[in-house]
Amino acid sequence: MGVNLGKSKITELADAPKDYQDSYRLLNKNGSYFVVNVSSPNTPGLRNLQEKGPLIEIIQAIREVNPDRPLFVKVAPDLEFPALDEVLQVAQDMKITGLIATNTTISRDILPPNTPNRDETGGLSGQPVKQRADEVLAHLAKNSKDLTLIGVGGIFDGQDLYDKIARGAHLCQIYTGWIYGGPHTVPNILEEFVGILQRDGIKSLEELRGSKLG
Ligand SMILES: Cc1cc2nc3c(=O)[nH]c(=O)nc-3n(C[C@H](O)[C@H](O)[C@H](O)COP(=O)(O)O)c2cc1C
Repeated sequence: MGVNLGKSKITELADAPKDYQDSYRLLNKNGSYFVVNVSSPNTPGLRNLQEKGPLIEIIQAIREVNPDRPLFVKVAPDLEFPALDEVLQVAQDMKITGLIATNTTISRDILPPNTPNRDETGGLSGQPVKQRADEVLAHLAKNSKDLTLIGVGGIFDGQDLYDKIARGAHLCQIYTGWIYGGPHTVPNILEEFVGILQRDGIKSLEELRGSKLG
């Protein structure tokens, strides 16, 4: 079980490290891995914590409590590659376990202009985020050493799962696809995924992993 920590809305950004630390102190015995969520667009200002300085302070604050738990940072699909490279640098320098790519997007570019509720605020998930989430994942995979990468964003079927692993994911997560697909979504996706591997003559996940990095 993964535990995803986000700063409380009412906490000032300057006090964020202590907020993450307090949550981690309460929960660090209750998960197999932990996630610093600094990428949700639904908490004002949260995504500023993806910058190098604040991110280092948050990771340090968590490590003070218990340095031994697997720790991930979850990034936004809206970060440009130079900003992602800074997060990568921090992740590698501080030897965290890995990165999760990605959270929801604030971009509406991919939606046709007449899409209902197109201008609603908040994070967009599912198919509209898939392409950018895959690009971000591939960028992280190309440029990271020894980090575990979790791919998330727009997985609905076996091909979507295949695409994530081909772009370097070691693990994958699903949210929106599961909401639409219901309880059988994961077994269905896995069955389809295995069928694609067999069709393509791919014998292991290692063989697939990173094969579409370009
Ligand atoms: C209703 C909803 C709530 C979410 N809440 C969180 C959250 O609290 N923390 C977080 O890191 N990501 C949150 N996410 C983002 C998802 O975990 C995931 O990164 C994103 O939706 C992309 O994956 P998907 O296309 O499979 O939904 C949320 C997404 C949705 C749709």
